[in-house]
Amino acid sequence: MKYLNLKRILILLLVVVFMTSENNIIAQQSNSIKLKVEKILDQLSLDEKISMLHGNSKFTISGVKRLGIPEWKMSDGPHGVREEINRHNWEPVGLDDDFATYLPVGTALSATWNPELAYKFGSVLGREARARNKDIILGPGINIHRTPLCGRNFEYMSEDPYLIRKLVVPYINGVQDQDVAACVKHFAANNQEYERFRVNAEIDERTLREIYLPGFKAAFTEAKALTAMTAYNKFRGKWCSENDYLLNEILRQEWKWDGVVISDWNGTHSTIDAANAGLDIEMGTEKDYDDYYFADALKEAVENGDLAIETINAKVRRILTVMHQTKVFDSSRSKGEFISERNFEVAKEVAEEAVVLLKNENTILPLDLSKIKSLAVIGENATRKHAIGGGSSGIKAKYEITPLEGLQNKLGDKVKINFAEGYKSSTKFDWSKGRVDTSDENFSYRKNLRNEAVGVAAESDYVILFMGLNHDYDMESVDRTEMILPYQQDELVKEILKANKNVIVVLIGGLALDLREWVNEVPAILQGWYAGSEAGNVFADILLGDVNPSGKLPFTFPKKLEDSPAYKFGDIPGNGLEVEYKEGIFVGYRYFDSYNVVPQFAFGHGLSYTTFNYSKVELSKNILNKSKTVDVFVTIENTGKVAGSEVIQLYIEDVVSSVERPKKELKGFEKIYLKSGETKEVKFQIDESILSFYDVESKNFKAEPGQFKIHIGSASDDIRLTTEFELSKEN
Ligand code: BGC
Repeated sequence: MKYLNLKRILILLLVVVFMTSENNIIAQQSNSIKLKVEKILDQLSLDEKISMLHGNSKFTISGVKRLGIPEWKMSDGPHGVREEINRHNWEPVGLDDDFATYLPVGTALSATWNPELAYKFGSVLGREARARNKDIILGPGINIHRTPLCGRNFEYMSEDPYLIRKLVVPYINGVQDQDVAACVKHFAANNQEYERFRVNAEIDERTLREIYLPGFKAAFTEAKALTAMTAYNKFRGKWCSENDYLLNEILRQEWKWDGVVISDWNGTHSTIDAANAGLDIEMGTEKDYDDYYFADALKEAVENGDLAIETINAKVRRILTVMHQTKVFDSSRSKGEFISERNFEVAKEVAEEAVVLLKNENTILPLDLSKIKSLAVIGENATRKHAIGGGSSGIKAKYEITPLEGLQNKLGDKVKINFAEGYKSSTKFDWSKGRVDTSDENFSYRKNLRNEAVGVAAESDYVILFMGLNHDYDMESVDRTEMILPYQQDELVKEILKANKNVIVVLIGGLALDLREWVNEVPAILQGWYAGSEAGNVFADILLGDVNPSGKLPFTFPKKLEDSPAYKFGDIPGNGLEVEYKEGIFVGYRYFDSYNVVPQFAFGHGLSYTTFNYSKVELSKNILNKSKTVDVFVTIENTGKVAGSEVIQLYIEDVVSSVERPKKELKGFEKIYLKSGETKEVKFQIDESILSFYDVESKNFKAEPGQFKIHIGSASDDIRLTTEFELSKEN
């Protein structure tokens, strides 16, 4: 006993010594960076300083050669390093070594609910950014999915701030561990693309704090993202790039964040206001570089005495600090790794865990090869590649396996594949005009394609339909106006069902769709997202059962647009210029749950080829003292025949509250892998912070003593176990 205690004390001492020396090293490093930065700052002329505060090409700011400061190079985007474009226009340079690993898009990453994969994802981005000699990656994009129509939802992560937080932190760590700065965007309230250059977002304080800011807060305070990109829109009447409340009060003072704030491209509107509000770098303005707000005009403002030189110094100091933190001046800086095998392996792993099995009636999936002689593969998305689309996040993939290729790779000549296009997109995206429908009045080609597909379906054992959207819809700068499928795909599915009932739909896209026309008739549906370089191979592995799906929806799939909260309460998109987030905190499942609206597929939903039994939930104690914690133990067993992963979700319900609260909120999750027959225990920890709401009066998060429920489930609408505890007044 005595010996045991001594051993414990010794271990504790060692930990303390280690942590202190670790802290000392960090403190020493930051002191030495400070000294180096001040030394450079002292030598810079005003002109040189100003040259570092605005773009000198589409994606760089100036260096200062005589002092050995290189140009600072930025690159889009959130799921792969963008191809090189010309310095002074948006045309691709046309190189043959600017390919990238096409990682599954942000929404797909979130559908994995796997923080470890988020770290690996970030590492790939960081490695490839370094190999392409970039200093800053313009991602992740983490704006909340407020409506199912936003053209950039596919780049973003989720409707839920907790899920975003848990994934964005490792993502950023992954990027920054490769000596590349992450640029978290778009700060803040950029939740629609419609009128993004003009719209003003009005959000009440509680909603801002509970829904729209926590992801950013985690990115800046937990992951310590080194740079931020402001949003195009206005927030409470002020452009985000000159928003004193967002940039100075919240980001810098409250969150004590000292990274570099970069404007979105062409998103700066003033010199003095923006400079004082905390913007550091102006990018992308469509003027001569000297005419940027942060170029000659900024110098003039200093010379006239309208702007303090210290404001300029602070900006340059921050830039130089981030340069040092990412080892810009250091020969030990990561050299990166260009489109390597292990990078593609990560793209594959993420895709495997991202695909969501939405429906699987009569366990039609996985397909049993012994019973199949022929397979109809139908849909434009069976052969369409998506990497390059979507706007600034588009990338030139080294390769992208299409769904048809994936099935061909997998099946060889074991099964006869009958391919038919079935529908053809009739849209084109144009930056000046937006999405344009190019279909003429003559729709006969559609009928012909449909008839051909129905013929192919009739003569095949099973039909796999790769349909949904493409990047004419999931596209920066333009929102959808409705949730229904384009190109008359509903008609196509219905006609095919008349010829063959064994239909499996794989939805490609980043948004929820209105599936009511056929959802009850189709036995199996998968959400396949834009799943990256290995998409086709992964879909084939999942359809054939070599990979057991484990993705969970990171957003609610409403039945119809009218069911979504922003539509119900407010105006999407309204007049486009003034948008009041009238639904408040009731975003996504918070609304569907609390208002008893049944979605098509709920937040957190995703099936598996195996079954899981949640047998027990136990608490370490039933009363939580304010400054303490309670442990929650959940026992779960794989009761099916195959191995699989499950995401155990923990939701909190505040039983009695002085303010309106959502029925339940996600406050914990854990993805675990279980072999057939295996049982595991998972532990969560509850503390006061996850019980709290934002109290507008005290301007703080606060938890009210009383009863709370813990719901443990496989989805927000599939709660398997519930227990209760009390938050006590005592400390
Ligand atoms: C987008 C940003 C992007 C930037 C540079 C803007 O239009 O909103 O997300 O990083 O362009 O391409």
